[in-house]
Amino acid sequence: MKHLVPAAALFLASACSPGAPSEGPVTLSVIPLPASMEAGSGSFDASQPLRVSAPADSWALTAGEVLGMPTEAVSGESDLSIAFDESLPAEGYRLQVDGDGIRIDGADDAGVFYALQTVRQLRNEDGSVPAVDIVDAPRFPYRGLHLDVARHFFPVDMVKRYLDRMAALKLNTFHWHLTEDQGWRIEISGYPRLTEVGSCRSETIVEKNFDPFVGDGTPHCGFYTQDEVRDVVAYAARLHITVIPEIEMPGHSTAALAAYPELACTDGPFEVSTTWGVHSDIYCPKEETFAFLENVLTEVMGLFPSRYIHIGGDEVPKIRWEESSVAQGVIQREGLDGEHELQSWFIRRIEAFLGAHGRSLIGWDEILEGGLAPNATVMSWRGTEGGIAAARQGHDVIMSPNDDLYLDHYQADPAGEPLAIGGLTTLEDVYAFEPVPAELTPEEARHVLGAQGNVWTEYMATEDYVEYMVFPRALALAEVVWTPVDRRSWDGFAARLPARVAALEADGVNVRVPDFLR
Ligand code: ACM
Repeated sequence: MKHLVPAAALFLASACSPGAPSEGPVTLSVIPLPASMEAGSGSFDASQPLRVSAPADSWALTAGEVLGMPTEAVSGESDLSIAFDESLPAEGYRLQVDGDGIRIDGADDAGVFYALQTVRQLRNEDGSVPAVDIVDAPRFPYRGLHLDVARHFFPVDMVKRYLDRMAALKLNTFHWHLTEDQGWRIEISGYPRLTEVGSCRSETIVEKNFDPFVGDGTPHCGFYTQDEVRDVVAYAARLHITVIPEIEMPGHSTAALAAYPELACTDGPFEVSTTWGVHSDIYCPKEETFAFLENVLTEVMGLFPSRYIHIGGDEVPKIRWEESSVAQGVIQREGLDGEHELQSWFIRRIEAFLGAHGRSLIGWDEILEGGLAPNATVMSWRGTEGGIAAARQGHDVIMSPNDDLYLDHYQADPAGEPLAIGGLTTLEDVYAFEPVPAELTPEEARHVLGAQGNVWTEYMATEDYVEYMVFPRALALAEVVWTPVDRRSWDGFAARLPARVAALEADGVNVRVPDFLR
């Protein structure tokens, strides 16, 4: 544990070190770095129960939860006073701390909540909060982290801890990848076999033993009931996190086909997959498939109030459609130029359905092939090219390129790391990522809503391992999507990191401590 540096010691060390970052004379270890932060002198003693004055008494409770300390709602003299200032940008806040107390002005509820998260990071172990003057707001409205609960299932408690840690980093969008070849994880009351059959695979491939296949002989099962989904969505909302569900189509759908083989172009039978990769069996573009998908999405929209619904669209082999009279019949009837246009037609149909219900579609960048649906938002994962093309067509974009933001990649030389899917995306790589490509005009750049880190769990069977892969890279991601680009500096981030790593470890998180802190 020699890398754990108490915040006060770090403050002095970095203030004196010749390599100290140019963020100011002292290091206040806030991640993501606020848009503007001026250290004052002295501190406020917040070691005693905090008297909170606010427009609503419920803020005292929220402050207590965020800060992990007793609080009391008061109307007179207070230690922490909370108010709203609608002239601040959305999700923004002003935070002033001096010897007399803490004052927060929030643009909105999220702004106050983020100010409290900043106070939580500033507060030292002895309860003192250093004097500071902060004016802060996010650079991007979409600040995302994803979790694949299909390759490996994680229970509600784990998902809530994941959300807590996202909120602490001011990440505001949780992309919940709920369906896959290897498991269907959400209860759909109209189609009980999705979870009776689709939520269980007979076993899981061991390491990378694809050929010959070696399985572990152990069933892997799990799904969320609709009550559990509602509970997670409500929990996230209290953390100012929107949950975007992903229901994959037309590919990555083997688990659904195992449950309802009549939705495929061939007879089956199909089995929930025990191995990773891209699978050939996909939904067939028949009317009964669209009826199924629309019924599923209707239940999904009833559970998730998010504006966006993610429909996947990635990695769709066309072989089954090439060989299917049904698929070829649709191509002819609709005058489509082959299977790529058939996929676009499929996605357009789903987009029209979501649109008619007041929702917007997000898809992986393959939805560009064969032409984009009119209002689709593109999640660019095969590099940034898909995002650039979509922005130039006037579509909104979320950047999630695999080289920079895939947190399932190795983060250091694989020789010293536990088994991962491949790739190499270091903490420095994540930190260096710029979501707005230089080639976009200012008008096109406005379509970049933000960025997201993706956590595919083929090789992450435990919460411990998910944490190891996510932390500290999610801290770099948080700064990429929150902090003004001209304030970002690797040296500054590196100087602020030890206190945040120590806090995560104190909270029981299995952080991969970067080599330069060991
Ligand atoms: C993806 O990683 N297949 C979106």
